[in-house]
Amino acid sequence: MQEISGIKNPRSQTAIGHVAKGGVDISHGPILYLEDISVSFDGFKALNDLSLTVDAGELRCIIGPNGAGKTTMMDVITGKTKPDSGTVFFGQSIDLSRMNEPQIASAGIGRKFQKPTVFENHSVFENLELAMKYDKSVLKNLFSKRRQSQIKKITETMEMIDLVDQADRPAGLLSHGQKQWLEIGMLLMQEPQLLLLDEPVAGMTDDETEKTAKLFKSLAGDRSLVVVEHDMEFVAEIASTVTVLHEGSVLAEGCMEDVHANERVIEVYLGR
Ligand SMILES: Nc1ncnc2c1ncn2[C@@H]1O[C@H](COP(=O)(O)OP(=O)(O)OP(=O)(O)O)[C@@H](O)[C@H]1O
Ligand SMILES: [Mg+2]
Repeated sequence: MQEISGIKNPRSQTAIGHVAKGGVDISHGPILYLEDISVSFDGFKALNDLSLTVDAGELRCIIGPNGAGKTTMMDVITGKTKPDSGTVFFGQSIDLSRMNEPQIASAGIGRKFQKPTVFENHSVFENLELAMKYDKSVLKNLFSKRRQSQIKKITETMEMIDLVDQADRPAGLLSHGQKQWLEIGMLLMQEPQLLLLDEPVAGMTDDETEKTAKLFKSLAGDRSLVVVEHDMEFVAEIASTVTVLHEGSVLAEGCMEDVHANERVIEVYLGR
């Protein structure tokens, strides 16, 4: 049979249309499905029949008033909280409700909490190295090909998070924004397909916030990002689709303009 060469599958250029590296099946587009998720704490419904879909490669922002259930939603996705009812799928076939936190993380979901948690006494380089998935015995052979490729990967990550010139600096001496980027870099070392970021720009300077917007936009496409944020300027800058949560379910969803003009959204959140 004649081999057809030089014809690229146009879909191979995007995250959609194949089974991605981590084994997550995104052949139908979505990377995350939440359906009718409910979570109660002592009778109080933190999530109330929440349904939400995120497409592969998307950069989705989740907004909503305090107590709307945004962090609880992330707790459900990452296995920290088990829902009382509903389904949560990673791609087509990975049922997250049957997995524990470490299993979910190794399936390809990385989560960043609000406070940076880096190893303060270790350098930027060492923090990234510690976060890497690798065979520790490689370390013994400093000049091996594997070691060289590890160094390359760490360097590429430092470039992405703009910390190359801080490589040898103890993480404890970095600014708040730099610590946040370092932690994002540590997540990236695990090669996640889906990144969950809870209020990533809280406490950042305007300059740091602007740089974070650029970083997130560059990360989307190859991966999917779900970002919870109260900073509306930042959300407007990065998101194509915004989901508004209120009292544990979706109040509105769409582009920033539509969400901003939505009467209910103004009433419960933006207009306050
Ligand atoms: N472990 C828990 N035990 C009891 N109640 C909880 C628990 N976790 C969350 N809640 C409650 O569930 C509701 C939703 O909280 P959640 O933290 O998800 O809100 P949020 O949208 O992230 O708010 P914020 O914008 O303030 O971070 C709140 O009323 C909160 O007090
Ligand atoms: Mg929260």
